[in-house]
Amino acid sequence: MTLSGLASLASALVITTALAANAQTTLTIDVDHPAGKVSPTLYGLMTEEINHSYDGGLYAELVQNRALMDDPAGPAHWSLVQGDGALATMSLDHAVPLNDVLTNSLRLDAVTVSESRSAGVANDGYWGVPVKPHTKYRASFYAKASDEFTGPVTVSLESADGSETFARAKVRRVGSEWKRFTVTLKTGSAAATANGRLVLSVNHPGTIWFDVASLFPPTWRNRPNGNRMDIMQLLSDMRPAFLRFPGGNYVEGDTLETRFDWKKTIGPIERRPGHACCWGYRSSDGMGLLEFLEWCEDLKMEPALAVYAGYNLNHSHIDAGPALEPFVQDALDEIEYVTGDVSTKWGAERARDGHRAPFPLRYVEIGNEDWFDQSGSYDGRFAQFFDAIKAKYPNLKCISTIGTEHPEGQRIKTRKPDVLDEHYYSSAATYEKEAPERFDTYDRKGPEIFVGEWAAYEDVKPWERESRGLPPTPTLKAALADAAWMTGMERNSDLVVMQCYAPMFVNVNPGARQWRPNLIGYNGLTSFGSPSYYAIQMFSRNHGDTILKTSASDSARLLEGATLDAKSGVVFVKLVNRDARANRVAIHLRGVRSVEPEGTAVTLSGVAPDALNTVDSPTRVAPVATQISGVKADFDYTAPPYSVTVLRLHCKL
Ligand code: AHR
Repeated sequence: MTLSGLASLASALVITTALAANAQTTLTIDVDHPAGKVSPTLYGLMTEEINHSYDGGLYAELVQNRALMDDPAGPAHWSLVQGDGALATMSLDHAVPLNDVLTNSLRLDAVTVSESRSAGVANDGYWGVPVKPHTKYRASFYAKASDEFTGPVTVSLESADGSETFARAKVRRVGSEWKRFTVTLKTGSAAATANGRLVLSVNHPGTIWFDVASLFPPTWRNRPNGNRMDIMQLLSDMRPAFLRFPGGNYVEGDTLETRFDWKKTIGPIERRPGHACCWGYRSSDGMGLLEFLEWCEDLKMEPALAVYAGYNLNHSHIDAGPALEPFVQDALDEIEYVTGDVSTKWGAERARDGHRAPFPLRYVEIGNEDWFDQSGSYDGRFAQFFDAIKAKYPNLKCISTIGTEHPEGQRIKTRKPDVLDEHYYSSAATYEKEAPERFDTYDRKGPEIFVGEWAAYEDVKPWERESRGLPPTPTLKAALADAAWMTGMERNSDLVVMQCYAPMFVNVNPGARQWRPNLIGYNGLTSFGSPSYYAIQMFSRNHGDTILKTSASDSARLLEGATLDAKSGVVFVKLVNRDARANRVAIHLRGVRSVEPEGTAVTLSGVAPDALNTVDSPTRVAPVATQISGVKADFDYTAPPYSVTVLRLHCKL
């Protein structure tokens, strides 16, 4: 090749590179042609006990197996601590129960102990007891002692090997009857550790029995049986409109006995037996029905209550008819506990539990994913619940768990559900393909749609074994697909009235999780939002009230949506650029009288699709807000590579 040939090849390469660096798309937004109302409840949360969501997660209790019910064979998570020369034994005692519900206790026989040689029991928490500096912890426990025991019990927060004590307090006297003791433990300036332990120790000989040993750090709104502050803050920042609880599979249970039996989850924690949860570990039920409701109250979320509907994950079911009646009554009682005033039996029970005022309730979901019930019993079961609920609570909307993503033959035929709950766990590629039209063709006469579980996975299905080796939370690639999917739900939110990502939580410690991807990750000390968390937060905080019609010249490159806040005239434009190249978008706002030249761009982007957040790098992929200028009815905005953008444009209509 000649020199001039080389030169022209070089300039051709430059031109090609320049073109590759910037894709171009045209986006037209019809601001003066509303295409429907944005559902005010579109952005919400879904929760259940999975991946240690509550125990070892949101629920702030730091002691694992506090009620000694986790393993009948021994005191799991408790160990014997013996100072130099001390002699003691520890055992699980079935013969000295705390009460008729908590039928085991922890027995400590202190044989050779003295002022300088103490012995005790230590709890290792959930992957360690996290201890932070300058923090007040509330410790409590039940204890009783043999007659010869005369000494105090020392409560201490220590490092895992006992070499360091962070805080200590004493209970002077333990009698021969069960009694509850509480102490405050205040830490000093020692650095935070995720790996501490709680120790109850003695230095006088005798036998002491312990039960319901509990340790709480400061909680959100200072609730006594409350939630972790950092995780609540992450949720609050999402501004969720509702909470779907308590499942998911958790409401069904593997068997009838292990369903979410709400009556066993209320009242004092020492009256809650806990139960084997369907995700392979035992739930303390410290997060019980009232705690779910108070969680809603604290974040101003509307409860979306799922009731047990006679189907278990082992594929057993209870036929509609008399056998199902007690479970229908249980659901009615549950609704009364939530909504009844103190003149009702269950409203009064709620008041006794500490919450006099009823909670609001509009939606009740009957079961969960009943398409798994191949017996065909759901139609009859749904009808029985539906009729009983409507007879007593005509204003409640009943949600069917079988939606239009399942064959016609499986759906409810004998009643018209108010709402259908549809679940979509799909690959990023499927989401991006289906986002532009998935809900566009649905019958506007209803039922309303609740996308009660959804999440994009990158490649490996969430429930497959290989997913265990992958990071617990989604990458930017998944977040881009999630954002694309949300543009479709928001554009159809005249019909898609509620939606929520699932699962919401994961404890990132080894062995803690059963599923991926999950929205929010944490260990004992700290928590973080995934890129998908931030994408949802951006949408949820910028949804307006009116859907606008949009058209883009190249939907393979750009997925988009637009809404308007009719009162303020703010137009929210959502742009999802999945490309490695920036995309210069020529935006045309049709039907506006004028536009303020200054607007805001909130952008979530990363260097590569596999970028993600972790406990050590919690905000590697996080939204950045910038002022943009030169905004007009026709203007260009360049969306960065691999990005989700929300533009806020101030228009006069
Ligand atoms: O979100 C995890 C599980 O996926 C839910 O418990 C269940 O409803 C669905 O199959």
